[in-house]
Amino acid sequence: MPKPKYAIAVLISGGGSNFIAIHKAIQNGLFDGEIVFVLSSTEKAGGLKYATENEIPHFTPTADVFMSEQKFANYLLEKTTDYNVQLVVLAGFLKKIPAAFISDFSGKIINIHPALLPSFGGKGMYGRHVHQAVLDYGCKISGATVHLVNSGYDTGPPIIQKSVQVFVDDTPEILAQRVLKIEHEILPQAVAAFAEDKVIINGRKIYIG
Ligand code: GRF
Repeated sequence: MPKPKYAIAVLISGGGSNFIAIHKAIQNGLFDGEIVFVLSSTEKAGGLKYATENEIPHFTPTADVFMSEQKFANYLLEKTTDYNVQLVVLAGFLKKIPAAFISDFSGKIINIHPALLPSFGGKGMYGRHVHQAVLDYGCKISGATVHLVNSGYDTGPPIIQKSVQVFVDDTPEILAQRVLKIEHEILPQAVAAFAEDKVIINGRKIYIG
């Protein structure tokens, strides 16, 4: 009886390049997994086109689901149970995950943030805002962080971080592209570590064995 593939659910709100990077990593044999569904906060998310083209089940809950923490928590619990999900990956997902679901699924929800947390994280720190803040501060490096999701905004313990140089003539768009490139490296690496049961969690200290 072949071992079932490691089941991953990816939550998106935009272009989905991180979702696509995970899918391509699986296709390239980085690890033995399967994206069993994609959940988007909007029908307009570019990543849904890729999901359709690659026959990956995808859902966009109706607006009322996002209006109630309890409704959204129930929705997530139902879908992750129906698809036997082992890891939930937030990849540019702009809605807050309900605390009730985080406690149900603790230690198995990860997020990718386009900065070196705890710097430049928290409410309102997403997309261009992050890179603009890094440039305004005069930072010489930036980077990306994959972290466990807890009840705060971007406050969960880091799993993998990688830095990039910031250049004096960078714009937020140029910096975003440089950071996105390494996001596409470290997020699949983190997912692979979970798929191969190599993630060791000791309080806020997380190691990949
Ligand atoms: C990425 O920069 C990610 O770090 C942030 O949102 C963006 C999503 O991009 N959370 P994509 O939808 O994966 O292309």
